[in-house]
Amino acid sequence: ARPTIAVTRWIPDEAVKVLAEAGEVRLSDLDRPLTPEELRSFVAGASAIVSMLHDRIDASVVEAAGPQLAVVANVAVGYDNVDVPALAAREVTVTNTPGVLTDATADLAFGLLLAVTRRLGEGERLLRARQPWSFHLGFLLGSGLQGKTLGIVGLGQIGRAMATRAAAFGLRTVYSGRSEKPDFDGEFVPFDELLRRSDFVSLHCPLTPETRHLIDAAALRAMKRTAYLVNTTRGPVVDEAALADALAAGEIAGAALDVFEREPEVEPRLLERDDVVVMPHLGSATVETRTAMAVLAARNVTSVLAGEAPLTEVTP
Ligand code: GLV
Ligand code: GLV
Repeated sequence: ARPTIAVTRWIPDEAVKVLAEAGEVRLSDLDRPLTPEELRSFVAGASAIVSMLHDRIDASVVEAAGPQLAVVANVAVGYDNVDVPALAAREVTVTNTPGVLTDATADLAFGLLLAVTRRLGEGERLLRARQPWSFHLGFLLGSGLQGKTLGIVGLGQIGRAMATRAAAFGLRTVYSGRSEKPDFDGEFVPFDELLRRSDFVSLHCPLTPETRHLIDAAALRAMKRTAYLVNTTRGPVVDEAALADALAAGEIAGAALDVFEREPEVEPRLLERDDVVVMPHLGSATVETRTAMAVLAARNVTSVLAGEAPLTEVTP
């Protein structure tokens, strides 16, 4: 029998076509994430699972699928939703989608930086509320970028793409992370120094036990009162309640967030603030990028099912 490939949520047709060459594609007809129970029954009998970042893939899912499960292809670069060691122990290959979403995500991060510093959301809300206004020299003034310092937390592919954009806008870049990147033209600094020196802090580290709540009350206090925070990685890297407290206390100037601690929920106090820009996890959301991500995930599945090496494997 042809292997079953369980796809937990809508993916572009191009990717379905790639999968259909390798097996029977089982698509979810629900326009929402599967609950943990639904997910376990949905994957029963599958040889491959194409998962989304909202699916928690752990040992219970592997067991529900059965011993024929060979690969889990997560359609995201982040894979904090997958228990990689547990899957490795059961000889299930895990893959992600690095590279193809680098530019789209850095574009969104830079767009958020512009949106929060130039008060784009506020201006648009003002017009849509049909409020009276007129051009004047003191109206809705923001903060300029040129000559200021961007702190990049986590200099992976997306962090580097953010630095390229920053250079084009006349920003100086410092970065922190696990190791210095000698090939990168920017200053490597300890995390606390980055917080103290940066006018803008942009998060590009993966979510791991070490980076959960990396931006907590103490980190926010260490930032300049004029500084802005941008988060396009994973919500739990920021302690959202501490962020709301810090903004209310004037400890930082603003925040732009594409990701949240308890998606799709957003800390209500953040939604009330004009110095906060929020987006519904759109980092990689372009037609080109989402197609490339899904096709890469599909090729990972077809490679593993054909007994070949996957293209972009995640190892514990
Ligand atoms: C999206 O958030 C991703 O990790 O690809
Ligand atoms: C602003 O619109 C200007 O012309 O300076």
